[in-house]
Formats: sequence, C-alpha cells, structure tokens
Amino acid sequence: MKRSIQNVSAALASVVAFFVSTTVGTEIPPPTGRYHIGRRKYDIPFLNTEDLFAPGNVSTSFIATVWYPTLQEPCEPATPYLDPAVAALWEPAADQTAGTLSNLTSHVQPGAPPAPAPRDGQAGLFPTLLFGPGGTGPPTEAYTILISELVSRGYVVAGLDHPYEQPFVRYPNGTGVYGPPVNYTLSSEEANLLYEMRIKDNVHFVGVWPDLVAELDAPWATAKLGAFGHSIGGAAAAGTARLIARETLASTLNMDGTFLDATNDSATADIHRPTMLLGQDGHDADDGDLSWEIFPAAQTGWWRTMFVNGTAHLDFSDWTFWKTLGGKPLGTIDGARMVDVTREFVTAFFNYTILGQEEGVLTSPGPVWPEVSVYDGSDE
Ligand SMILES: *[C@@H]1O[C@H](CO)[C@@H](O)[C@H](O)[C@H]1NC(C)=O
Ligand SMILES: *[C@@H]1O[C@H](CO)[C@@H](O)[C@H](O)[C@H]1NC(C)=O
Ligand SMILES: *[C@@H]1O[C@H](CO)[C@@H](O)[C@H](O)[C@H]1NC(C)=O
Ligand SMILES: *[C@@H]1O[C@H](CO)[C@@H](O)[C@H](O)[C@H]1NC(C)=O
Ligand SMILES: *[C@@H]1O[C@H](CO)[C@@H](O)[C@H](O)[C@H]1NC(C)=O
Ligand SMILES: *[C@@H]1O[C@H](CO)[C@@H](O)[C@H](O)[C@H]1NC(C)=O
Ligand SMILES: *[C@@H]1O[C@H](CO)[C@@H](O)[C@H](O)[C@H]1NC(C)=O
Repeated sequence: MKRSIQNVSAALASVVAFFVSTTVGTEIPPPTGRYHIGRRKYDIPFLNTEDLFAPGNVSTSFIATVWYPTLQEPCEPATPYLDPAVAALWEPAADQTAGTLSNLTSHVQPGAPPAPAPRDGQAGLFPTLLFGPGGTGPPTEAYTILISELVSRGYVVAGLDHPYEQPFVRYPNGTGVYGPPVNYTLSSEEANLLYEMRIKDNVHFVGVWPDLVAELDAPWATAKLGAFGHSIGGAAAAGTARLIARETLASTLNMDGTFLDATNDSATADIHRPTMLLGQDGHDADDGDLSWEIFPAAQTGWWRTMFVNGTAHLDFSDWTFWKTLGGKPLGTIDGARMVDVTREFVTAFFNYTILGQEEGVLTSPGPVWPEVSVYDGSDE
C-alpha cells in the first residue's frame, strides 16, 4: 500500500518536473541578496555627429537599462534572460546549440515598482553604479548575473548600450538595431574612438541622471556614484572619472580592459579616487599590456589589482556561465565558480568605496579565494 503511494508521488513528481522544464526553462544563477530585481529601459537623447558606427556618423540617443531593487515577488513563468535576437547572435558565436541561450530564463522583472527607500544604504538612498559592457558586445544584458547580484544587495545599476556599436540592441519602444557582427575586431584606432564615445555617453548620462531619478521619484542616489565595466567599458569607467568630480563619481572598477589614452599615460592617469583592476592572470606585462602597469603606478589614491587564475577575457561576462552549458571553453576556471568570484569581488569593492564597509577580501582573499591574487602600492 505504502509502496504504491510512493509510486504515485514519484510519477507525479516526474510530471511536475517535465512541466517545469518545458514551460520555465533553465534559470541563470539567481542573485543571493535580499532584494528582487526590477528593470526599465530608457532612450537617452544625445546627439553625436562623430559616431564611429552609426549611419552617416550621426546618432541621436543611447540606451540606459536601469536595474533596481524591488520588493515585488517574481511570478512564474520567469522572463527570458536574453532578448531573442541577442541570444540568436551569440549562440553560434559561443559554439552553443541553437536554443541553449534563448531558452534560459531569469527572475528579472521588467517594470516592477522600485523598492522604497532603504533604512541602511547611502543617506537613505540606494547607491547607483554605472556599467559599461565590452566594446562591440556582448551588451549589458549579458552581464545580468553580476548586475542582478549587485541589485539584490541594494545597488541600482545603469548599464549603457550604444546603438550601432553593439551587434544588436533594442530600444525601449521595441525597435531593434543591428550593428557590426559579433566577431568584429576593432582596430586600435577604432578602439580609441569607441572609448572616447563611451566616455561622452557616460558623462552625459551622469548629467541627466538626477532629472531621470526626480521624474521617477525613486530613492536612488545621484551623487557618490560608482562606475564599472568590462573591457572598453571598464577602461571608459576610469576615463570618465578624469572628467567628473570625486563627489559625483566616487570610484571605478575595470574588469580586464586595456586602459587607453590619458589613463595609459603616467602624467595623466591618476584619477584621485579608489580604483580596482580585476583581470585575467598575467594581464599586466606578462600579457604585453603595459597599461595595467602604467595606470595603477600613477594612482595616488587607494588601488588594487586582482588577478583571477584560469580566466580568459570573456570569463568576466555571463559567458563564463554559458560555458557550463557547453560551447567555447574560455579559461580553465569553472564557470559557476567564476560567477561567485566576480560577484564577491565587485560587490566588496563598491561596499568598501561607496558604503564605507571594511576592505575584507580586497586586502586578503584568504584560503576561501585561492584563485585570486592581490597587488597594491606596497608591492611595487
Ligand atoms: C564614420 O563612419 C565610418 C564608417 O561608416 C568610419 O570609418 C569613420 O571612422 C567614422 N568617423 C568617425 C569620426 O567616427
Ligand atoms: C529549448 O526549448 C524548446 C521548447 O521547450 C525545446 O524544444 C528545445 O529542445 C530547447 N533547446 C535547448 C537547446 O535546450
Ligand atoms: C524607437 O526609438 C528609436 C530611438 O529613439 C527611434 O529611432 C525609432 O524610430 C523608434 N521606433 C518607432 C517604431 O517609433
Ligand atoms: C565572422 O563570422 C562570420 C559569420 O559567421 C564569418 O563568415 C566570418 O568569417 C567571421 N569573421 C572572422 C574574422 O572570424
Ligand atoms: C600604453 O602606453 C605604453 C607606453 O607609452 C605603450 O607602449 C602602449 O602601447 C600603450 N598601450 C595602448 C593600448 O595604447
Ligand atoms: C556588501 O554589502 C551588502 C549590504 O550590506 C551585504 O549584503 C553583502 O554581503 C556585502 N558583500 C560583500 C562581498 O562585502
Ligand atoms: C591556476 O590554475 C591552474 C589550472 O588552470 C592550476 O594548475 C594552478 O594550480 C592554479 N594556481 C593557483 C595559484 O591557484
């Protein structure tokens, strides 16, 4: 009798499992903090008549995707993780079977109501971080795993995507725009132009952010911002700091991006505020990138360089999780582990530089993070 009940419940369980896997799909690693994740997209008007990629070199706006804490519980079914057009471009590029990325889901909630002002945080506001993705892709949504974690810990993150520069972006009104192919390789001249364009976008966005926040009446910080990014987006975070007062932009973090132009010149690279470099092992001189020696050496403020053993350039995006599903291997580090590493060290950096928490792992990763090595001014 007992046995047959077990058989019935086992059969029921497999029906439920089948139902869940076909209607909901595989979820990306969920965030671990206390807040749920809201997301809204904005078209930010901004005339650029020297746009590297836009038709006729003229662009009139860029896209800001704002991710923010919400108290609203996510409902089933979960939302698709990537825009279908983005997934379709990166599945072949990542050597993934068609459907692998487009089937993934997240619990990001488009349009959810923003959480009310936090009791802790920065003067009763959620601190805001600016994010820049890699040059010519992947776009901000391919950093959902890291961004969601920061938001779940009480940060607002504004990711900026530049139409025509990214292989694909979708405006808030639903219109999609294709740019260069996913495997496009920037010349060094183009990389410099793109870097300047990103800095212009960042500076403009920081200028209009207070108006946007006032319009939304959201409890989001408009001063003491942090900026971070991957590749050119990370370099542009540091480059932006040169143009914006420390009171407005308090700290920057560059994930594996080569510093360019003034941030790669010892006379002008000092940004006079805390800064961190988080990159693949040997990104500095071993890898032939002198900028990772020139930039930190020029800093008069707090800085850290952290190398993560076994990583490649794209392990600093969600691609590191994609590799757990097959496809291109990137670095040898386990993708699930790399998700934890990036989440921990990026959060710790902004907790320290924006919220004034202890340095913790930024000074001593300890036996918990054996793959991370740390350098600061005392190691020169
Ligand atoms: C204008 O666009 C062309 C490609 O259409 C590009 O080669 C050129 O560098 C762009 N000019 C500027 C100033 O970005
Ligand atoms: C994606 O989901 C569809 C519909 O559930 C399914 O038929 C397909 O096998 C899935 N593809 C992959 C690669 O998971
Ligand atoms: C959507 O917005 C973009 C950017 O502002 C604009 O270029 C495009 O024409 C709009 N599409 C529609 C259908 O209104
Ligand atoms: C880029 O991808 C396209 C389409 O898959 C391919 O035809 C082309 O050869 C690739 N270019 C490079 C430089 O890999
Ligand atoms: C950074 O500056 C060094 C020294 O001037 C130079 O050798 C190197 O090529 C520069 N790197 C880049 C990416 O411009
Ligand atoms: C960062 O601060 C948040 C909020 O206080 C906390 O939940 C989280 O554990 C901290 N993370 C790290 C890595 O310090
Ligand atoms: C770095 O990773 C390699 C494998 O990729 C491993 O053999 C080596 O022991 C690691 N080194 C450290 C310091 O963790």
